[in-house]
Amino acid sequence: MQFPKIIQGGMGVGVSNWSLANAVSKLGQLGVVSGTALDQLFVRRLADGDQGGHMRRGLDAFPFPEMAKRIWQEYFVPAGKPVQAPYAIAPMHQRRELRKVVELCIVSNFVEVFLAREGHKNPVGINFLEKVQMPHLPSIYGAMLAGVGYVLMGAGIPLHIPGVLDAFAAQHPTEYKLSVTGAAQGQDTAMTFDPADYAEGPLPMLHRPRFLAIVSSNTLATTMLRRASGRVDGLVIETPTAGGHNAPPRGKLQLNENGEPVYGDRDRVNVAELRTLGVPFWLAGGYGNAQQVREALEQGAAGVQVGTAFAFTEESGLRADLKMSLLAQAVAGTGDVFTDPLASPTGFPFKVAQVQGSYSDADVAAARTRVCDLGYLREPYATPEGNIGYRCAAEPVANFLAKGGKIEETVGRKCLCNALMANIGHAQIRKDGSLEPPLVTVGDDLNTVAQFLAPGSTTYAAADVVESLLSMSANLAVDEQQELAATA
Ligand SMILES: Cc1cc2nc3c(=O)[nH]c(=O)nc-3n(C[C@H](O)[C@H](O)[C@H](O)COP(=O)(O)O)c2cc1C
Repeated sequence: MQFPKIIQGGMGVGVSNWSLANAVSKLGQLGVVSGTALDQLFVRRLADGDQGGHMRRGLDAFPFPEMAKRIWQEYFVPAGKPVQAPYAIAPMHQRRELRKVVELCIVSNFVEVFLAREGHKNPVGINFLEKVQMPHLPSIYGAMLAGVGYVLMGAGIPLHIPGVLDAFAAQHPTEYKLSVTGAAQGQDTAMTFDPADYAEGPLPMLHRPRFLAIVSSNTLATTMLRRASGRVDGLVIETPTAGGHNAPPRGKLQLNENGEPVYGDRDRVNVAELRTLGVPFWLAGGYGNAQQVREALEQGAAGVQVGTAFAFTEESGLRADLKMSLLAQAVAGTGDVFTDPLASPTGFPFKVAQVQGSYSDADVAAARTRVCDLGYLREPYATPEGNIGYRCAAEPVANFLAKGGKIEETVGRKCLCNALMANIGHAQIRKDGSLEPPLVTVGDDLNTVAQFLAPGSTTYAAADVVESLLSMSANLAVDEQQELAATA
């Protein structure tokens, strides 16, 4: 079996878009699109007039034309929406989904993977966050319709996903149990999805993609391999220097003098033990340079997963002005990344790049009026009547409290849904004319990305990263042999 040495990590929302994943996979490594919030992102791309006609091209290839037509007719704005007009918003996810929300998930995930696969024959992966549970089933189905080669999932323990992949490959309906805070024993929290309810004609044959679990410890790695509902094909082991969400430290949370979580010995991964698990693994978090890649391979890893270095490539979805400002910081060596224990409503630490005028500024954060209109991070909870309600610690405080949330949970929370849309150029405009502020996440190694800039250049491409990362490992097998021969 052939595995990539480099996985370009999934970066939501829309940072690892189809164009970045396409570029990386074309080079023979694994390009991964982010599957997070693709339904809303799709709506915004159509509202902006489908620049370049890419969404239309994807829709034309979609196997259920009536569904594609419904979505196009509802959301496409021919000349793009006026700048001062707000984006239309698709309804929020809930356990009993509206049909049009399910259709948007299927279609948008299909299109992203379809476009990432265009023009080459190499595999493409899709990344989901286990915590964002409600869109899982139709999103995975849409990605599989487009022939996705890998599904990668972290930010939680995705035990049930391998079985979902098996069910879809066998053309079976399947279910997925939502975690519902305070649910009574035996309460039905399952979400169901039957492909036959959506197919226009006979069900297409689908391949079962490989499943890679993204975990942060040896214990979780073992749990995934022992208890998952189907085959786990490999593991990505992510350390807390990585961009995006990080696993919380084990044991009681302690903060350093800057207010960041302190990680200790118990959080260290034992690589030698990973080698005994019998599946390939990739190391992630601070592996964005040739030396680290080489060391990972020498330790027995199949390769590395890298995010931060790819986030700033010309192909990524990150807004050009944010790329420029952070690249300038990296060149000057002044990039500053804060591991924020509070910002994410998931409760997981979240890496935040300090960018003036962004949501990382205390003033900007204080000036934003709380609103919850995208709702991906809403936590399902059991209501006193035995139903399922939804709340987010970043929503207006009074609403959160009325839903049984605790005041202390609201402190420091930020609306990642709206911020991450702003990061990629689709900021919502509010009634008072203000734009939702961006909040950029990158890894602790932000400053090292300056290495990819050629002299005199202010941008770099995915190919520059791939070439540079592999520059010390291309002949690894040969080197190893020489070393062995020398010591023999
Ligand atoms: C901008 C950005 C967004 C990210 N979003 C996600 C995500 O949505 N899901 C995920 O599993 N990992 C996410 N990550 C983590 C990456 O997939 C990858 O594991 C990590 O960046 C590797 O560490 P590095 O940043 O030091 O290269 C994100 C990372 C970055 C930089």
